[in-house]
Amino acid sequence: MTELAIPALSLVALVGISGSGKSTFARKNFAATQVLSSDAFRAMVADDENDQSASTAAFESLHFVAGKRLAAGRLTVVDATNVQEHARAGLVAVARAHDVLPTAIVLDVPEEECWARTQARPDRHFDRRVLTRQSRDLRRTIKSLAREGFRKVHVLRGVDEIESATIAYERLF
Ligand code: CTP
Ligand code: MG
Repeated sequence: MTELAIPALSLVALVGISGSGKSTFARKNFAATQVLSSDAFRAMVADDENDQSASTAAFESLHFVAGKRLAAGRLTVVDATNVQEHARAGLVAVARAHDVLPTAIVLDVPEEECWARTQARPDRHFDRRVLTRQSRDLRRTIKSLAREGFRKVHVLRGVDEIESATIAYERLF
């Protein structure tokens, strides 16, 4: 069992390519209301969780709600791929604006495995190249997360580490 220490009040960014198990991990380890998912926000603003053209509006809305939650002192988990630095920078900014520590939990699962899972899903229809690009983005930046401002960075490698991980809340004050 791996205990992931995270501040009791933090903004937790899940980081992982599509199919790496972010939503599954979020369901298992956090309350549904603590989790803001980019899919849910795309659906809210565009009636379609896969509509990539709705991403800007979806993330603006997600950041807004995250800010309201943090202002109220509520732990907030962001379920989005977050493989690109600019996406993570937006989350670090929201956390900082509310004096909250940003934390990253990286789900590092082989691209092959994620692709196999994706193909079995009725709700995902994208090209393999999308996954390859996400993997490349993640590989490039996985080492720089702490430098980007994430106070804690937990990297879970492979299915077993992800399965056995539990969250341990740290009370700082
Ligand atoms: N899955 C699995 N075994 C796991 C974790 C997930 O078979 N240990 C399956 C899920 O049931 C789902 C798929 O893999 O069908 C993708 O998992 P999900 O948690 O939805 O992945 P996400 O990272 O959330 O993918 P996306 O970015 O596309 O939302
Ligand atoms: Mg998901």
